[in-house]
Amino acid sequence: MENNNLLELKQKALQEIEQASSSDALNAVRNTYLSKKSELSSLTSKIGTLPPEERKSFGAALTEVRVAITSAIEEKAAFLKNKELDERLSKETIDISLPGHSYNLGGRNPFYVIRDEMIQIFLGMGFEVADGPEVETDLYNFELLNIPKDHPARDMQDTFYINENELLRTHTSPVQARTMEAKKGAPVRIICPGKTYRRDDDDATHSHQFSQIEGLVIDKGINIGHLKATLELFAKKMFGEKREIRLRSSYFPFTEPSVEVDITCANCGGKGCNMCKGTGYIEILGGGMVHPNVLKMNGYDPEEYSGFAFGIGIERVAILRYGIDDIRKFYQNDIRFLKQFKKMS
Ligand code: DAH
Repeated sequence: MENNNLLELKQKALQEIEQASSSDALNAVRNTYLSKKSELSSLTSKIGTLPPEERKSFGAALTEVRVAITSAIEEKAAFLKNKELDERLSKETIDISLPGHSYNLGGRNPFYVIRDEMIQIFLGMGFEVADGPEVETDLYNFELLNIPKDHPARDMQDTFYINENELLRTHTSPVQARTMEAKKGAPVRIICPGKTYRRDDDDATHSHQFSQIEGLVIDKGINIGHLKATLELFAKKMFGEKREIRLRSSYFPFTEPSVEVDITCANCGGKGCNMCKGTGYIEILGGGMVHPNVLKMNGYDPEEYSGFAFGIGIERVAILRYGIDDIRKFYQNDIRFLKQFKKMS
């Protein structure tokens, strides 16, 4: 009698599977016939109560029914899935008459545009790009650049100290010492772009964090003419063929002689105007011939080798190129500012 019941159950299930016209309906059938609360499950749990001689054949019959129902459901499920996908595809069309979404594409910060342009100019002259840490030691940031502990030049470069010996570098010049150490007495021709830090009040022309590009060339027979020619080429490529430079004597502990480099004012061509405060020139960087002490401390014999070095503020170059009136605008990510430079990036 049990077997007749089973046959009926199977036929009923197969019929309902056949009639299920959607995945949801099929799921309901699956629930009715295969879940833990289904008749099939309760019959299965009854096997143990049957006389031993009936158990085997009844168990086999149950399994046969469960397998038949399961495979019929799987087959139907695959069929319904395909059918429903076809229906969706034929129903869902894209209305191309609707207006699209407009995307607000940003532009590159002019700081990076100028930084990369500066790097390209120096790469074109045969410089390599070197790198160094922003958290520096007193040794590299000061001592090896001929700025001992009690040197007054330290006053102009107060910074953020991590501890007595570690600080946020005040300039990219420590990369000079690091490069000389790495090159072990061989010729050097590097630039190093990077972030620098100083204790400063932030205003239109000062920022506690800014960026520089350091340059260093060391070889036999390097003289100040090489420095001048390199910087003149840089100035013309960056600010225009008509620009000229002049070197004014200055002081840095790590160069001797030291110079400050001015370019002729792009606004008035050197005649004198508001932008250049009537002088015809605008200061763009510092440099000089590498001090013999610096060469010596970093493993080069000043009798045999000489070199030049320079440091350029990247923001300052960008400010001059684009006429930007406040250094803080580079760091604020204000799209009203950034939008104005979109064409350049
Ligand atoms: N380190 C200097 C500063 O931050 C800039 C500088 C001047 C770098 C002369 C040099 C140099 O390499 O030769 O004020």
